[in-house]
Amino acid sequence: MSGPLRLLQVGAGGMGRAWLSTIAANPDAILVGLVDLDPEVAAAALAAAPEGVADGDVVVGADLGEVIRTTEADAVVDVAIPAAHHPITTTALFAGLDVLGEKPVTESVAEALSLVAATQVTGRRFVVSQSRRFNQQAFQFRAQARKLGVAGTLACEFFKGPHFGGFREEMPQPLLVDMAIHQFDLARFVLDADPIAVYAESFNPPWSWFDGDASAVATFELSDGVRFSYTGSWCAPGLETSWNGSWRLSAEGGSTRWSGDDAPVLESLEPLEVPEVPDPGQELTGSLRAFVAGIRDGAPMMCDAADNVLSLAMVEAAVESASTGQRVLIDDVLEHAHAAALAAERRDDVRAALAAWPSVREGLGAAAA
Ligand SMILES: NC(=O)c1ccc[n+]([C@@H]2O[C@H](COP(=O)([O-])OP(=O)(O)OC[C@H]3O[C@@H](n4cnc5c(N)ncnc54)[C@H](O)[C@@H]3O)[C@@H](O)[C@H]2O)c1
Repeated sequence: MSGPLRLLQVGAGGMGRAWLSTIAANPDAILVGLVDLDPEVAAAALAAAPEGVADGDVVVGADLGEVIRTTEADAVVDVAIPAAHHPITTTALFAGLDVLGEKPVTESVAEALSLVAATQVTGRRFVVSQSRRFNQQAFQFRAQARKLGVAGTLACEFFKGPHFGGFREEMPQPLLVDMAIHQFDLARFVLDADPIAVYAESFNPPWSWFDGDASAVATFELSDGVRFSYTGSWCAPGLETSWNGSWRLSAEGGSTRWSGDDAPVLESLEPLEVPEVPDPGQELTGSLRAFVAGIRDGAPMMCDAADNVLSLAMVEAAVESASTGQRVLIDDVLEHAHAAALAAERRDDVRAALAAWPSVREGLGAAAA
């Protein structure tokens, strides 16, 4: 493959415009197609995009299959709404394109498992843009965590008071579903750990301007027995935290704190040599850069969908725990999702790939390898 990666973007809403600017700033990627259910929205977003987003005509349309046939794109960037991630990614993978998709990977773990199996059937790559991982301070925090030895407790506080209007103020679980996935995924990243179980409560403070639960507390058990505690609110005026959250890790060899906006601060029992970390590029910029490099060299990518499913499983498990009042095992969420995926799958080849997994964790592990 030579020349810039030829991208077809789906979704031209608020985040879609940010992606057009990100593509324009990357010399190794060009836009060849833009799809939105509303082609006028796509045309307006394209007209407002920075120069350099494309080096020729961009095919604009409402039908992804049709635009794929006329563009010779290498990959799709999916910035449509979560409910559309499954059909868009399936269409792209089976048309022979790789996919970089916005978070959440899909609306449900079951749909995500179907897409992971689709990558096995097609041999294409599907990566989730979990953009808050692309932050040099997060990489530093992780490097410090590794040096501190056995981890005990990782704590994250997230307090913001945004007035978004729109769908977020009408969702039953706006904080857990639309926001907390970033912090849940960061916890896995920082500790290189997988989730085992969660107990969560969600609630809506009396002054909340959200219909659904804008506040939540959750305690996760992670692999190796580490506990990750999350306390968050989206209706929290005053002393707001970073959008990344405010973090503290207590470990065998000491502690480290990350405000989410400044370099993390380490206090250890013994002097520690923490290695310099590379700059992964900030958020969408880093995410696109990593995707282009991974497609070029075929190396594993840290936000591969087969790995990212576990971050969505944390959200689904927390929502289930909050509604039942029970501690929820991640393995139960995965196995129920697998059964639901098998029952809902319309493609015989994808259903056969799903059915061949000895367990969900083993299937995901094999798909990520
Ligand atoms: N990484 C982040 O921090 C971050 C921030 C905001 C949003 N997001 C994610 O980005 C995605 C898009 O969010 P947004 O805020 O831009 O939403 P939006 O509603 O502003 O835009 C979505 C666009 O997708 C289009 N669309 C919907 N279904 C489609 C389909 N089947 N085919 C083609 N186009 C379709 C809509 O017409 C709309 O223009 C979501 O997955 C969201 O969770 C991520």
